[in-house]
Order: sequence, then structure tokens, then C-alpha cells
Amino acid sequence: MFGPEQKRLGEARDRRFEIEASLEPLFADGMITEVLGLVRKGKEANVYCCRGSRWSGREYVAVKVYRSLEQRGFRNDADYQPGRDRGLKGQARRALANKSRQGRLVQAGMWTHAEFETLQLLHAAGANVPEPISCSGDTILMEFIGDGPEAAPMLARVALSADEARNCLRQILDNVTLWLRCDRIHGDLSVYNVLYRDGGIVVIDFPQAVDPRFNHNARHLLERDLENVCGHFARAGLHPDARRIANEMWHRYHLSRL
Ligand SMILES: Nc1ncnc2c1ncn2[C@@H]1O[C@H](COP(=O)(O)OP(=O)(O)O)[C@@H](O)[C@H]1O
Ligand SMILES: [Mg+2]
Repeated sequence: MFGPEQKRLGEARDRRFEIEASLEPLFADGMITEVLGLVRKGKEANVYCCRGSRWSGREYVAVKVYRSLEQRGFRNDADYQPGRDRGLKGQARRALANKSRQGRLVQAGMWTHAEFETLQLLHAAGANVPEPISCSGDTILMEFIGDGPEAAPMLARVALSADEARNCLRQILDNVTLWLRCDRIHGDLSVYNVLYRDGGIVVIDFPQAVDPRFNHNARHLLERDLENVCGHFARAGLHPDARRIANEMWHRYHLSRL
């Protein structure tokens, strides 16, 4: 008989194979030499702390592995998709449009690449984001944010003094401004996607970032991002007005005065 225990073991084994299959090319290329642990099972991806090598240039690296298409709860793309398929040619564009399995593969690859490219752009501009190292298929290799192999906590889990909170909020708003100057809005900003390390912030999780020049939901997403983070600071006695800040940023963005 095939009982629940065997089923669980079978699922665990399938997952292990899936992880190994995704990480294998990174071992083969010498970018990682050991998997030290699963940092977190996120909404759409698993993130592992791995030992780097002289090729990856760091002692510890983070590997974000997007789940297989079947296991992944895709976000509702409608808000984010506009402008995203600009680079696609005939067949890929048609597959995406008719939502076939091939289309979902195209879509999955687009999200991984979109996150990697956004990290490259923003890191080069000096934003507080992990340094991207490489990207292929469903994985992104990037700087590990933590203390040694210990991952930094999410801002949502850190108790801050009033001064620390003020400083943190300033850093977040400076980052949102800098991203906008680079024509990017995070689109899923929250205190769960901000890591806190040595009194500073590092923002992660950019697959859905949008370019306001091509996305008509951009202003709404900017406002929602700011509302999501600003609300968190009430517990430290700060009451930033997210709508006013969003309005001002948007206005300055259009006057090219950010
Ligand atoms: N570069 C990194 N360094 C350390 N921890 C990370 C890094 N990137 C992600 N994490 C951890 O993995 C979790 C999931 O990553 P995230 O990019 O937010 O994916 P998801 O879309 O699944 O939420 C994060 O909440 C964070 O705890
Ligand atoms: Mg996340």
C-alpha cells in the first residue's frame, strides 16, 4: 500500500531532486561549493545560503530558486505586465498572450530575468539592494545579506528605537526616490521585503518591479508601496503621510526633479 508516510517521503525526495537540479549548474560552474541551508521558503521562491568560491567572489552567497511552475502561486500579473513584454518576439509573444504552457515558461523566465536586471540597474545606481552575481533559468545568485551565514532579519521582525526607526524610514524613502530616478517602482514593497543589517536596510524581492514610463498602474503601485511601509512606523511613534509623499515623488518625477 502507498500510505501517507510514503507519500510524504516521495514528496520530500521530489523536492530534493528539484533543489539539486536547480543548484547543479552553480556547482558545475564553480560558483558555489556547499549548500549551508534554506534561509526561507518564500511565497514564490526558496532562498538558500551557500558557500561561495573565488568565482563568485564571496564567502557566502544567496541563491534564490523560483519554484517550478506548478508549485508557484503566480501573482496576478495584470498590474505588472504592461510594458514587460516589449523585448519579446513573435512566437514567445504569442505563447505569452494565449497563456499556453509554453507561455507560462516564457512568463517564468521573464520574472527571473526581470528581477536580475532590476537588481543590476539599482545596485549600479547605488541603491541598498543585494549585489546580483549571476542568473540562469530559475535561479539568481546574489550577495548574501547577513552576519556570516546567519541571514539578516526582515524589518518586520526587528524592534527599533525611535532614532533607529527614523533613520530606517529615511533610508527607505531615499531608496524609493533613487529607484524612481532609475524609472523603477518596486511593486511589492513591504517590511517583509526589507532586511535589516548593522543599522541599515537592504531591500529584496524585485521580480514585479515596473517601469513607470510603460506601465499605467505605476502611480497606484508607488502609493501602495509607500502605504505598506509607512504604516509599520506607527509603532515607533512616526506617522509619515504615504499619500502626500507619493504625490510629491510622482510630481517631481514628472518634472525630472527627483
Ligand atoms: N540576498 C539575500 N540574503 C539573505 N536572505 C535573503 C536574501 N534574499 C532573500 N532572502 C530571504 O529569503 C526570503 C524570501 O526571498 P524573497 O526574495 O522575498 O522571495 P519571495 O518572493 O518568495 O518572498 C526573504 O524574506 C529573506 O528572508
Ligand atoms: Mg518576499
